[in-house]
Amino acid sequence: MVKATLKVWASMLAGLISFKGVLSLPTPEKSCDIDLRGLLTDPVHQWASNTTISFPNTVAFENATERWSIFSPPTYSAAVSPGTEEDVKKVVNLARTYGFPFLTRGGGHGYAASLGAFKEGVSLDLSHWKSIQVNSSALTMTVGPGVIYNDIFDPLYDAGFLMQTGSCSCPSVIGVALGGGIGRMMGNLGLTADALQSVRLVGSDGIVKTVSETSYPDLFWAIRGAGANFGVITSATFNIQPLADFNDGNVFMLDFYLPAESSLEYFKVIETHYSPMPVNLAAVVVNNWNSTLNISQIASDWIFYGTEADARKVLAPIFALNASFVTATLPWNEIVSIAGGGYDKYNCEPNKPRSSFSLNQRDYNATGWQQGFEMITDFFEKNPGGRSSQLMFELFANEATAAVPENATCWPWTDVRGFIQAQFTWTTGDIATEESANTVGAQIRGELSKTTGYDSPTVFVNYARGDETIEDIYSATKLPRLAQLKRQYDPFNLFAYYHPLPLEYP
Ligand SMILES: Cc1cc2nc3c(=O)[nH]c(=O)nc-3n(C[C@H](O)[C@H](O)[C@H](O)COP(=O)(O)OP(=O)(O)OC[C@H]3O[C@@H](n4cnc5c(N)ncnc54)[C@H](O)[C@@H]3O)c2cc1C
Ligand SMILES: *[C@@H]1O[C@H](CO)[C@@H](O)[C@H](O)[C@H]1NC(C)=O
Ligand SMILES: *[C@@H]1O[C@H](CO)[C@@H](O)[C@H](O)[C@H]1NC(C)=O
Ligand SMILES: *[C@@H]1O[C@H](CO)[C@@H](O)[C@H](O)[C@H]1NC(C)=O
Ligand SMILES: *[C@@H]1O[C@H](CO)[C@@H](O)[C@H](O)[C@H]1NC(C)=O
Ligand SMILES: *[C@@H]1O[C@H](CO)[C@@H](O)[C@H](O)[C@H]1NC(C)=O
Ligand SMILES: *[C@@H]1O[C@H](CO)[C@@H](O)[C@H](O)[C@H]1NC(C)=O
Ligand SMILES: *[C@@H]1O[C@H](CO)[C@@H](O)[C@H](O)[C@H]1NC(C)=O
Ligand SMILES: *[C@@H]1O[C@H](CO)[C@@H](O)[C@H](O)[C@H]1NC(C)=O
Repeated sequence: MVKATLKVWASMLAGLISFKGVLSLPTPEKSCDIDLRGLLTDPVHQWASNTTISFPNTVAFENATERWSIFSPPTYSAAVSPGTEEDVKKVVNLARTYGFPFLTRGGGHGYAASLGAFKEGVSLDLSHWKSIQVNSSALTMTVGPGVIYNDIFDPLYDAGFLMQTGSCSCPSVIGVALGGGIGRMMGNLGLTADALQSVRLVGSDGIVKTVSETSYPDLFWAIRGAGANFGVITSATFNIQPLADFNDGNVFMLDFYLPAESSLEYFKVIETHYSPMPVNLAAVVVNNWNSTLNISQIASDWIFYGTEADARKVLAPIFALNASFVTATLPWNEIVSIAGGGYDKYNCEPNKPRSSFSLNQRDYNATGWQQGFEMITDFFEKNPGGRSSQLMFELFANEATAAVPENATCWPWTDVRGFIQAQFTWTTGDIATEESANTVGAQIRGELSKTTGYDSPTVFVNYARGDETIEDIYSATKLPRLAQLKRQYDPFNLFAYYHPLPLEYP
């Protein structure tokens, strides 16, 4: 529609903006009521020469909206790929004034099924903001929002450093950090968010803030765990560690497969010997379908941050299993590409339907895992179209995450030592498998939630599906302060589509 509609909204919103205390806005029913093309291409905005505005059925638009998962995806009518921070501010200001929904895009790996509620909005695409600066004297690394983990492994290692990362190469570093950022070094270094030193954030008022321990410390508390709710992060600075403090950056890797018959024995070994997980150790255990042998199997990858001799001592109960072991000593920057037989390559394939059901795990529980294994095996047997799905247990130590003072960040799960994720995929259009996957996924999550050691099901924000309660995701302890900060810093609820916080709690 046209200018008239826009003007009405503009004046309504302008009125509300000056009226403090208004907490909810009338938003247009659909943003297609707004002539986004006319609005965004109006020369009055004077976009920078390297800002791209794109619309459906163009390559630029496809690039600016591509996603890892195409299950229940957000849909877009336009994309802005800004070249400058000034233009990021303009998009935020336009969205606030005209009431169109927008989603910041870093790596495009957010897979909450609840993103499907975002309809016909604008993609604020920052995926081409790829700058990386390592400062060896300050022991910091500053990255842009388009930087993915794969971009930092080699530059950091080559400069003589490492940092705690996630377990895959493809999500954006900033996107992961905003939801905490779990990974193999939770035992010795903590979450990716625990390494955060400062960010530049364009707030819902369109103003750029430096957010750190000393500048907007309340926001700094909130972005380390609920960061998608408070603004657009245009750069982030992280603390990095000299390799000399971590066995010169070398780790020991142990990979192996076990057939279905051995699953319970293996789970019991883990429950008995690795609960709690030793500080330098991490395991990723995947139940999947072996398409060569036509069997359900367990694929495992263990990483030890230390020497091979120490690793062999710690891993003795695993080496006592009957399996064909693959071992290696690797530089840390190669873990993600090599571990688990290179499963990262498969896990990072974009543009596939992926439906995930996840849980936090505090206590390791062989009986629960076995039950999950049997349920996913039954799914594989009955649904050949779903055999690229997997049930994954990530088992990480938590000494460093637990050492972060309870009130230092809004990340609530300092006692978590494992993450369960049933992740289904199928060929687009295979409705029978899709339906079966979503039924079985909910059943697996329901059953395993009884054995996680938490009284009720909990899930951290990066892995949440979006059908959980906000308490399950953010915790009732953190929500009052989060809601108060949301009200203060995003009163118009612009950042409202990725695990949104309420403006009032309780
Ligand atoms: C293959 C794979 C592996 C993963 N591994 C891990 C892991 O090891 N540890 C872990 O903790 N999580 C992991 N995740 C989950 C991941 O952290 C979340 O999906 C995260 O939101 C992805 O961020 P993104 O920028 O890649 O995705 P996007 O879809 O671009 O971002 C997701 C949401 O985050 C917000 N956002 C992103 N960037 C910015 C920004 N610069 N400023 C403001 N808001 C922003 C937006 O609201 C956006 O909708 C993994 C996901 C996948 C698909
Ligand atoms: C789209 O992305 C591809 C791959 O990154 C790139 O080569 C191409 O130049 C992009 N095209 C446009 C129009 O953005
Ligand atoms: C766009 O151009 C400006 C001005 O030349 C430059 O500072 C900025 O880095 C460019 N943006 C990107 C994403 O390359
Ligand atoms: C690196 O950090 C040091 C110490 O904080 C600072 O003085 C210097 O300007 C930084 N270098 C760069 C290139 O930013
Ligand atoms: C199947 O199992 C065999 C034997 O354990 C293993 O070598 C192979 O890599 C597995 N294949 C897949 C696709 O997992
Ligand atoms: C596995 O099943 C496929 C068909 O589903 C078949 O072609 C193949 O021979 C089977 N392999 C084994 C080892 O049984
Ligand atoms: C070890 O596993 C192999 C192959 O899975 C099997 O043939 C063998 O009998 C097993 N040995 C023992 C001692 O269990
Ligand atoms: C956290 O609690 C400690 C001790 O109660 C207090 O000294 C500190 O200021 C608090 N920090 C924050 C960020 O609230
Ligand atoms: C596993 O979970 C079951 C069900 O809650 C419980 O009875 C059992 O004690 C748990 N085992 C361990 C080792 O925590």
